[in-house]
Amino acid sequence: MNNNEAIPGPRGARANLKTAKALVTEPCGALDALAADHGLTSQVTVGPLRLVIVGDHEHVAQVLATDNLAFRWRRVAQTLTIVIGKTSMIVSDGEDHKRRRGLAQPAFAKRRLDSWATRIIEETDRLIDEEFTVGSPRKADLHVLHRTLIRRISVRVLFGDSLRERADEIGERIEPAMQYAGQPALGQIPHPLPFTFRARAKRARIEVDSLLDAVFRERRVAGIDPESDSLVDALLLAKTEGQVLDDAELRDQIVTLIGAGYDTTSAVLSWTIARAALHPTAWQLLRAEAAQQLDNAATHARVKAIPYASATVDEALRLHPAGPFSPREVVRDIEVGPYTVRKGSVLAYSPHLMGRDARVWDNPLSFQPDRFLATNPGVEHQRRLAWIPFGRGSRSCIGFALAQMQLALLTARFAQRLDIALTDGSIPKPSGLIVTRPDGGLPATVTRQT
Ligand code: HEM
Repeated sequence: MNNNEAIPGPRGARANLKTAKALVTEPCGALDALAADHGLTSQVTVGPLRLVIVGDHEHVAQVLATDNLAFRWRRVAQTLTIVIGKTSMIVSDGEDHKRRRGLAQPAFAKRRLDSWATRIIEETDRLIDEEFTVGSPRKADLHVLHRTLIRRISVRVLFGDSLRERADEIGERIEPAMQYAGQPALGQIPHPLPFTFRARAKRARIEVDSLLDAVFRERRVAGIDPESDSLVDALLLAKTEGQVLDDAELRDQIVTLIGAGYDTTSAVLSWTIARAALHPTAWQLLRAEAAQQLDNAATHARVKAIPYASATVDEALRLHPAGPFSPREVVRDIEVGPYTVRKGSVLAYSPHLMGRDARVWDNPLSFQPDRFLATNPGVEHQRRLAWIPFGRGSRSCIGFALAQMQLALLTARFAQRLDIALTDGSIPKPSGLIVTRPDGGLPATVTRQT
């Protein structure tokens, strides 16, 4: 192998430890500092752990084109198994991953996206009507409301309308498990005390399992409608070449879908609303577009009719991808650009670094939705490589179409119906290791217009 250039990174045990700590406590800032000091691809070593951060889009493209057998996911996501279960596709490798993901994938067919669009708008209107009165400004933490909204939408999309009345109850049972998943790594370490996040998450998962078992029983007795648009029904019916998911696998995939979609989508919604609210022209363009194009019969196809909302979401995802990096364990030496990443390393590609790379994006720190409306032939290819908030290939986000549709519709509806003035008048600090959320929430004064 001739890729023997040393991977750049901090020198000496102390500098490496300091960087590793910063990556855990303040990942976005630590990534920026690493890139400034050592370039977009770098290595941090602490004892036996070698963490290779890959933020150069050409290098990431090479990693994502490498055969999956060079990587393993189980160990890097180990702490999450308490929530998502041992058979979740996220912690599965090889054939198990292929089978579990393959059976879940058709559940996201376009036909279902169309029917979900209507529910997304209905739930958004319900929340706005519950929380705000026309013409009466009120202070609210929008991030908390965004989480409630995404939880309600997720439960409706998963279970269909039959469990609509119980959406809040189901959401509340799930919440402790989601809070655990959002904890920094230290909070996830096994702990014997009964009141830790871990213990609460464990109890929540047991409750969710018994709820799911009851739903499975009900559905099977009543007979599952093959035309149903609920994700759970689609999973209950899933079958390829005689293969099915057993009930334990089904429960794990369902909790995985809730877990993977909940924190990510609500965090990105908050970043999108924060960015757009601080950009009066963008807010007015969103409002005008929504007033013209959105009615109660929203469909997935209609998202194409709100290109400015979609561009606003894409631009927010460029600056604030849900996760600062996506890790995997390297199980055989692989080539990445001029380097060899050694077997045993943890490789984490970083959409955060790629989204801020000045070689690809003009004025990268400025929020400009328009850049996603115009094609720019000179850098189109680079931009496609550098904008991957949902990953790419066989481990990419299975819910990306739902997430993009949801975020565009929600952003459009919020702008159409609300005026939002952020309390701090600036973009919040990012926090969180797995999902980047606005630190301290998103306090704002909100005035309902319609
Ligand atoms: C803005 C919202 C979202 C973002 C930014 C996002 C991003 C991602 C990323 C970066 C990955 C990992 C890719 C990799 O490691 O290469 C991923 C995986 C995954 N996402 Fe999402 N996601 C979002 C919403 C959702 C939703 C709504 C769902 C489900 C309804 C979902 C389900 C999943 C699942 C199941 C995986 C694991 C796939 C596998 O292991 O094969 N995500 N997502």
